[in-house]
Amino acid sequence: MTKELSKIIEDSINHLKFVKEYRPGKLNFNLPDLKIEVPEKPVVADKPKHVTKVVSKSELFREDWMDAESMPDLENLIKNCSKCALSKSRNNFVFGSGNLDADIVVVGEAPGSEEDLQGKPFVGRAGKLLTDILAAVDLNREDVFICNILKCRPPGNRNPQPDEILKCRHYLDKQLCLIHPKIILALGAFAAQTLLDTKEPLGKLRGQIFDYSVDGNLIKVIVTYHPAALLRNPNWKRPAWEDMKLFQKFYSELK
Ligand code: URA
Repeated sequence: MTKELSKIIEDSINHLKFVKEYRPGKLNFNLPDLKIEVPEKPVVADKPKHVTKVVSKSELFREDWMDAESMPDLENLIKNCSKCALSKSRNNFVFGSGNLDADIVVVGEAPGSEEDLQGKPFVGRAGKLLTDILAAVDLNREDVFICNILKCRPPGNRNPQPDEILKCRHYLDKQLCLIHPKIILALGAFAAQTLLDTKEPLGKLRGQIFDYSVDGNLIKVIVTYHPAALLRNPNWKRPAWEDMKLFQKFYSELK
């Protein structure tokens, strides 16, 4: 809400209060004792090239988890989330795992059945391949933080629904605020398109470096194939390796 709008609402209420006091009987409803708070203007980085996200600072949309000051706090505040139907079918909320102070955050789509059972991201077949992909660029799983856009498993591994994405992605933004990574490695079209707010196919998003700004922190985004897609289509392993070389070169220059 702008300062101007809140001033207009406050003035209108004050005017109605005046009418009520000086023309008794004219208004027969109660007026709220309202002092409108104008939310702090969100701080965003100078003209990022691409996407800007703000974890709501407005009191109107305030939720406890938004004030979490550490990743363990955040996990405690959101692990019983019941904002969407996935909370009813999940076995575990999959918060993410790895280095809470990582330079690199790896983002996938959503937990699969093994991840849902263990409560950890990328622990099934695709997860094993992810471990190998990271090792190929001299990284351990413990060096990075690994998580997903959705924290709960869509039943039968169906595609995430728009309302599930809408409700869950703020948690990822808050994780990014707390970790402060330098780079996001987005795995697969779903993660890349959701993060970058685009419908461009994966083929167009690979090989580029994007800016993602969340609450004033500028993070670079590099996109590659999802390991599950590489298991289905080994022909993509070569372009995926090119993506990882770009990622490695870019990261070594950033350090
Ligand atoms: N696929 C994903 O996108 N994430 C996981 O955690 C596992 C499989």
